[in-house]
This record gives sequence, structure tokens and C-alpha cells, in this order.
Amino acid sequence: MSISKKSIQQVLETAEIEDVVGEFVNLKKSGPRLKGLCPFHNEKTPSFTVTPNLNMYKCFGCGNGGDPVKFLREHEKFTFIEAIEWLANKYGITLEKTVYSDEQQQKYKEEESLYIVNSFAQDYFVKQLKETDEGRKIALQYFKERGFTEATIDKFGLGYTSDAKDNFLQTALNHGFKEDTLKKLGLVSRNYPMDFFRNRVMFPIKSVSGKVIAFAGRIMGNHKKSPKYVNSPETEIYIKSKIVYGIYEAKKAIRKQEECLLVEGYTDVISLHQNGIENVVASSGTSLTVEQLQLIKRNTPNLKIIYDGDSAGVNAALRGLDLALEQDLNVKIVMLPEGEDPDSFIKKVGATVFRSFMDENADDFIFFKLKLLEKDADDPVKKTAMIKDIISSIGKIPDPLKRNLYIKECAQKLQIDEGILIGETNKVVKAQVFNRQKEYNRQQREKDRKRMMDAKSAKSSDPSFPPEPPPFMEGEEMPPEGYEGGPAPDEFAPTPKTQDRPSYFKEKEIIRILVQHGDKKLLTEEMTVAEYVVAEIGETFEGFEQEDYRAMALFCQECVGQSKPVNYKTFSTHETDSFREIAQELVISKYEMSPNWLEKKDMPLRSQPVPEENFRKDTIREVKNLKLAWLKKIQRDLGKKLAHLPKNDLSDEMMKLLKTKTNIDKAVKDLTKELNQVIL
Ligand code: GTP
Ligand code: MN
Repeated sequence: MSISKKSIQQVLETAEIEDVVGEFVNLKKSGPRLKGLCPFHNEKTPSFTVTPNLNMYKCFGCGNGGDPVKFLREHEKFTFIEAIEWLANKYGITLEKTVYSDEQQQKYKEEESLYIVNSFAQDYFVKQLKETDEGRKIALQYFKERGFTEATIDKFGLGYTSDAKDNFLQTALNHGFKEDTLKKLGLVSRNYPMDFFRNRVMFPIKSVSGKVIAFAGRIMGNHKKSPKYVNSPETEIYIKSKIVYGIYEAKKAIRKQEECLLVEGYTDVISLHQNGIENVVASSGTSLTVEQLQLIKRNTPNLKIIYDGDSAGVNAALRGLDLALEQDLNVKIVMLPEGEDPDSFIKKVGATVFRSFMDENADDFIFFKLKLLEKDADDPVKKTAMIKDIISSIGKIPDPLKRNLYIKECAQKLQIDEGILIGETNKVVKAQVFNRQKEYNRQQREKDRKRMMDAKSAKSSDPSFPPEPPPFMEGEEMPPEGYEGGPAPDEFAPTPKTQDRPSYFKEKEIIRILVQHGDKKLLTEEMTVAEYVVAEIGETFEGFEQEDYRAMALFCQECVGQSKPVNYKTFSTHETDSFREIAQELVISKYEMSPNWLEKKDMPLRSQPVPEENFRKDTIREVKNLKLAWLKKIQRDLGKKLAHLPKNDLSDEMMKLLKTKTNIDKAVKDLTKELNQVIL
């Protein structure tokens, strides 16, 4: 079952951005907008804005932006459906359920069954711990010895599984679960009908929203033969690189404390929690991935990594941590005393000393690196390599102020000229910025290309393409009066030449104008932008090459026909996924980076609002552009038709065609001239 499109649309239409954001962020009125401190990045002056009439939020600091659903997905880590359910609950809307398509249903069923089996296994392991003699005697006793309280055990859902060969398997089969699913989840060995986890205490690994997605089992006693920990394999619901242990239990505290502690082990997380330090997650012994860092960053930009005193892989791990700098996280490092891990250390010294140790020994990531590398400072070859290494780390920090601070410090500590360091760092920064911009452009192009390809394939598979010329093109009065009525060309500011773009982009521009400005008055009180566009080029909508744009344009025509307003909300609350997606994309892209970002060489990439008062001249220009493209297409078709007729044919048909051609030629010429005048 899923939620019906109608219900989704109802929720999307009802949800108001200021309401939704207001539940999480303190907003203050500021003109037509509301402002507040961005919940997605750390800031002291508000650059987070909510625009009620667009029903969107946008942070000009970190670039995060979108509609109420997007906000909930980002802020609460909800899925689309979870966000809809949350909103429905808030606004008292009863959701209507529909049945999934077969394929969706299959996928949903499979994922759901994985969760169900894991939840069954979770109950089983807890029962084994608490309700069997063996569990109580061995495992509960073990946890007690480690100092874990009952409450802690419950909070983390800790469990136990005995050494029996297939106790779990048999129980699961008796409950009707399929062996295949058990194998897939790694609860049963792949090759033998045997429990995979045996003689272990069990740590459920939970998703951000608290569902059990996998398990880790720690061996009881010291079996030299078996590894200390074994883990579930990856599945659709457990992708190791995307989750950190403890995030569900820690996320509230992380946001409140505005800091995330990262430790190595499961038991470290649990032990710190029990001592009142709850903003902690574990990497589980692997080096961090970009996705894990992003998961942390959605909760706080401040990351403190705590390394065990005997940690062997610090050097290697550090290299991976350049990733954290790239994500603009503020990374600090704490090295525990020799031989201690967070669990043993906090047990030894208590929470108060532990906290002050953390405060006093937290080294900035760069300086920590510097310290490690300083050991080699006497060797000139090694020193050069080390400077390069540090520079490349500094270069990855997106914030220029922060970078400069580091450069100053490093120049002093390394005793090299600051100017040289700045020069070298700038090279790295430029390359970084360039690569990021390239990547961004690539993504945008990829999106455009995809849509363009869709348009092309639709075109070639449609035998009636190109469509018949619209009726107004064949009459005597060419071209229609419409665009004569616009403002005089000299009112326009200089604009870039846009006539030669492929039609895909012209269609995109028309849709952008409809989405952004559809219900604004164009020149007089009488006509809205949408009405003008429909009146001027409505006939061309059927011929739009890109399927989504065609559907959106036709929908807009329908709205105008029914005197309904056309605006961002019209599309952003539409039941069709692509309408919503495209609408959001178009509105957000208005705020993208300024085109001359590269000149301001040290500026980080920041979004900037573009003045939107140009919409009138935009509208009129883009309508003309599309009309011109349309006329040219007809001109070409006519040309082809005429070429096939005998030269001295004087039939009525020929005369009519020639006359139409004369009209079209003139219209093309006039329109081209007009557009060129605008350009002057
Ligand atoms: P205790 O020894 O019970 O305190 O556990 P710990 O969590 O402190 O373990 P340790 O410090 O030895 O290791 C840190 C983390 O590395 C663990 O929490 C595991 O995530 C991981 N790890 C350690 N040993 C193994 C192993 O044998 N296999 C796997 N897959 N992971 C391990
Ligand atoms: Mn330990």
C-alpha cells in the first residue's frame, strides 16, 4: 500500500513553509520573507530565509533550499513518504491509500520483509539475553561486569545468542520466515543451515530513524580462532558506508551540543552514553566515507575525533580525513593516553575529568597533522613533502578566513614565508574550486542532456512530428498582433543573444517563466504572465519536444482556460513527480552561484540571489524567441514542400503556399529584427 496521489497533492497544497520550518527554527519577519539561523550549518547571523509566497526556504550561506517536504527530508532525515505522513498528521489530513505497481510492490515487500525479519531477530536476541538462564548467567553477567546498566542495555537493544548450532534458524522457520531471507540478512550462514551469530553479545545497528538494519556480534570470552566482532553483510537496507553506529541514539544530543564525537568502538559509544555523553557515534573501525561525513554534517559542522591511545592507523586515517575538510566540517582530534580507549578511560577517570581532558587536548586537525609530521622536520626531502601535504589539506577548507588563519599558524610553526604558503595554497584552492564548479556544471549538463535525449527520442518515435502549423500561421494577417503590444524595445536592458539555443532550452525558459512569474501582472492589471504566454504561443505547446515541459505547458494552458492562477505552487503541489521536481529545480537555480565566481579567486562558492524584477522583459523576449523558433520550423517545412512541387505550377495550392511563405518570411524577418533591436 502507498499513499494516493490525490492525498499527496492535498498535503503538498496544504503544507505551509513558515509553519513547518517554524517548528524547528526560530523565524523573524523581514519584509516579505522570514529569517532565522540556518539549521543546516553553523552561523551567527541569519542567512536562512523562508519565502511564504513561494512556499520555499533557502539558506544563502550553505545553499540548502526547497519546499516543506524537502525541509523535513533534510532536517528530520525523513523519506518522502515519512514527510508526507508527518505533514498529514500536523494538518489533520487523512491519507488515502492506494496499491503499488507490481514492481514497486515487489521492492517494497522485499525491503519491508528485511526490516520485519531484523526486528524479529532483534526480539529473539533480547529474549535470549534476558529470558534464558544461559543469557542471564553469561551475557547479562558480562554486561554487568562491563558496568552497563539495565537502562543502557535497553536503550541500545543489546542482546545475546548462544553457541547452539541453529536455535535461531529453527525459531525463525517456525515463525514462517524464509531461509533465503535469513541468509540474505546474514543471520544464517550462506553455506550451511546454521546460525551465523553464535556465542556472542549482539549490538543492533540502527538507521537514522531507529529501524534495525544490521547486527554486530561480539564474541564471549577470548576465542583466539574467531574474530572479536562479526557483522551482517550489506543489503538494500544496510549500506555500511552510509551509516555510523549510534546516530539514532545520538542525533538529538549532537544537535543540541552542536558537536559530534566520533569514537572507534561500539562499546565506547555505549559507555559514553551511560556517563551522560550522548553526542557520540562510532565509525566501527573503518575510515570515514563522504556519505558518513555528510550524515554527521546534517546534524552539526563540528566533529571531534577521539583516537584510542594505542591506535595504529592514525596516520592512514588522517589522510582519509581530508574528506572532512572538504565537507567544511570543523575537525578536531583528541588522542587518548597510551593504552586507553574511551570506554576504559571514562571508567577510570569519570565523566568530569573525561570532559576536561577532551577540552584541553582537542587539537585542531591541521595542527594535529603538523605535529605528527614535525617528527620528520629535519629531513629536507621529507619536510617538503610534509609542507605539500599540509597545504593540500588547508586548500580543502572551503572557508577563506579559516584558511588564512591556518596559513599564518603554519608559516610560523614551519618557519617558512607566509607569502609562499599563500601562493601555494591558492593554487590548490583554485584547482578545488575549478573542479567543484566543473562537477556542478557537469551535473546540470547531465540533467539537461537527459531531458533533451528524452525529447529527441519522443520526437523520432512520433510519426506526426513536426506537428501541423497552428491555424494562425496560415491566415492573411501575419503575424498576429500580440507581440506588437509589448513595451518599446528601447525599454529593455541589453540582453544576451538567445535565439540560437536549441529548442529544448527555449522550452525550459518558457516553463521557468511560468513557474516563477505565471501569476504576476505583465504590463497592465488585465493580463498575467501566464495568460500572455498562453495567448501568444499556446498553439506551440503541443509541439514542445521535451515531454515534461510539454505536459507542464499544456497544464498551464488548462489552468488559464479555467482562470486558475499559474505559479510555483501550481506545479510544486502537482501530483506529477516531474512537475514538482522541475519546479523546484527551476526556482532554486535562480539562486545559483554568480557567473564570475572564479575572478574572486578566494571566495568560497556561495549562492547569491538574482534580482527578479527583470521578469517582464524576460517573458516578452523568451516568448519571441520561442515564436521565432516555431516560425523557422514552419519556414523550413514550407521550403521542403515547395521544393517538391514543379517549378511553373500555378495551381491554387501553389499560390496559397507561396503566399503563406511570403507571410512567414516576413514574420521571421520582423521578429529577428525585433529581437536584434532588443539586443542593441
Ligand atoms: P571491547 O573490546 O569489547 O571493548 O570492544 P571495542 O568496541 O572497544 O573494540 P576495539 O576497540 O577492539 O575495536 C574497535 C572497533 O573496531 C569495534 O567496535 C569494531 O567495530 C571493530 N572491530 C574490532 N575487532 C574487530 C573484528 O575482529 N572484526 C570486525 N569486523 N570489526 C572489529
Ligand atoms: Mn573497548
